[in-house]
Amino acid sequence: MHRLTSRVCVVGGGPAGFYTAQNLLKLHQTVRVDILEKLPVPYGLVRYGVAPDHPEVKNVENTFAKVANHNRCRFLGNVHVGQHVSVQTLRSLYNAVIFAYGAEKDKKLGIEGEHHRDVISALDFVGWYNGFPDQINFQPNLHGSTAVILGHGNVALDVARILMSSPEALAHTDITDYALERLRNSTLKRLYLVGRRGPLQVSFTVKELREMTKLSGCRPVLNPADFQLVRERLPEIARPRKRLIELMCKTAFSPDTSRNDVEKEWHLRFFNTPRRIIINSEGNLEGVEFEVNQLDKSGKAIGTGDLVFVPCSLVIRSIGYHSVSIDSEIPFDNVKGIIPNDQGRVGKGFYCSGWVKTGPVGVIASTMTNAMETAKALVEDLEGGLLEKRESDQDLVDVLEGRVISFQDWEKIDRAEIDEGRRTGKLREKIVSVEKMMDIALNTDL
Ligand SMILES: Cc1cc2nc3c(=O)[nH]c(=O)nc-3n(C[C@H](O)[C@H](O)[C@H](O)COP(=O)(O)OP(=O)(O)OC[C@H]3O[C@@H](n4cnc5c(N)ncnc54)[C@H](O)[C@@H]3O)c2cc1C
Ligand SMILES: NC(=O)c1ccc[n+]([C@@H]2O[C@H](COP(=O)([O-])OP(=O)(O)OC[C@H]3O[C@@H](n4cnc5c(N)ncnc54)[C@H](OP(=O)(O)O)[C@@H]3O)[C@@H](O)[C@H]2O)c1
Repeated sequence: MHRLTSRVCVVGGGPAGFYTAQNLLKLHQTVRVDILEKLPVPYGLVRYGVAPDHPEVKNVENTFAKVANHNRCRFLGNVHVGQHVSVQTLRSLYNAVIFAYGAEKDKKLGIEGEHHRDVISALDFVGWYNGFPDQINFQPNLHGSTAVILGHGNVALDVARILMSSPEALAHTDITDYALERLRNSTLKRLYLVGRRGPLQVSFTVKELREMTKLSGCRPVLNPADFQLVRERLPEIARPRKRLIELMCKTAFSPDTSRNDVEKEWHLRFFNTPRRIIINSEGNLEGVEFEVNQLDKSGKAIGTGDLVFVPCSLVIRSIGYHSVSIDSEIPFDNVKGIIPNDQGRVGKGFYCSGWVKTGPVGVIASTMTNAMETAKALVEDLEGGLLEKRESDQDLVDVLEGRVISFQDWEKIDRAEIDEGRRTGKLREKIVSVEKMMDIALNTDL
């Protein structure tokens, strides 16, 4: 390869990886970009996070496919950085390395009983219904009548919606067949969505809440007492939060009583911090003990000492995701769970983008904005002659000797999934086994 051509690699094939590559290719006319992804398949949380009943959100994959097919870009799947190739080797082969590997762990509560088999994480549950390979053997217990979801974010609402939707409404999506089957056999009738702060502090958004209020066969139960003060403060609240609070107030004060098809219900509970998961003498989950909170002046939840108990047979922890360090030489802030950076610059030819740069908050559109910032910083450094030369002209594909899955290989997997889905009237049937993905990628024609 020509010495003068700068090469950059992006670690992570999610939205941040693709948007950063897209901006680099736009802002610089000769730079070559490789997107390295640990799985044989691209798109990160667009494939494995976004809910199956939100297919329109996944249209962004068309934009990403154009990036991957750009003549100065390559998607290199099945490359787990830190396992198959070290960060140091990457640095020797590329002028710059951008970390865009997201936040793949979840936050823990650190309370008694949290490790019980029926206390599960939203991360695992979402991975299960979306076909993430690690969750292939996950079997959430949906046999009881009541579940508690801890957290008031959009992930909590995704999980609630999937649990409370009629299986028929999900049957044509790309939800995994085994998840659909288990949901069909679910006996859950009641869900509590419990947050540690109040209605003004929820992190979910209005569109997602509205979907919950309209679920067929399922009734929202919001306690009017929780919204008395909030309703009085409505005029001083700015949009779009105002619309969200209005919707909560309307649902609490004027519930739709006309529906007679209702079999299930979901509740919003506020000002409750989980303190203990109660397990009975037979080892079964009995429920969650919460401490009642008040907010201090800064809006922080402060326990009052009062305890309340909510009986349930399943607890789903949905209190946020968390990034991890993949190389001990790259600075990492364990408290914030991010790589410390200045507009995406980490130093010494390293950059970061997406959730590993900002922390695990923000939608795909915000990932796009911060990817732009990182790409700009890198191109400025490149044009200012600040990037060191790479040590070697060797191609990573040769270094990895046959393990790399190309974008064309992924397109074979994509085609196989769509064909299999068509057979059963679904958008696609995801292939969950990495071994099977590899077999299709390497042993079939496009
Ligand atoms: C459950 C859930 C649902 C969501 N739904 C929506 C939605 O409906 N709409 C919306 O706008 N936003 C949604 N979001 C937010 C959106 O998914 C994120 O903003 C976005 O995916 C963050 O992009 P990212 O590239 O930083 O991380 P990711 O999407 O996580 O991508 C990171 C990629 O890096 C790869 N990787 C990790 N480690 C390595 C390694 N060592 N080597 C190589 N590759 C590696 C991962 O496999 C992954 O593909 C949702 C988030 C979650 C958690
Ligand atoms: N449809 C969509 O657009 C969509 C779907 C899914 C996800 N997303 C996005 O993805 C991002 C991540 O979503 P998320 O739901 O994982 O995170 P989130 O929005 O940060 O919500 C996390 C929730 O967990 C609570 N929490 C945190 N630590 C806690 C603890 N120790 N004890 C009790 N509660 C705790 C938080 O309460 P506090 O506020 O009190 O900290 C908050 O209610 C968000 O930006 C979200 O909008 C978007």
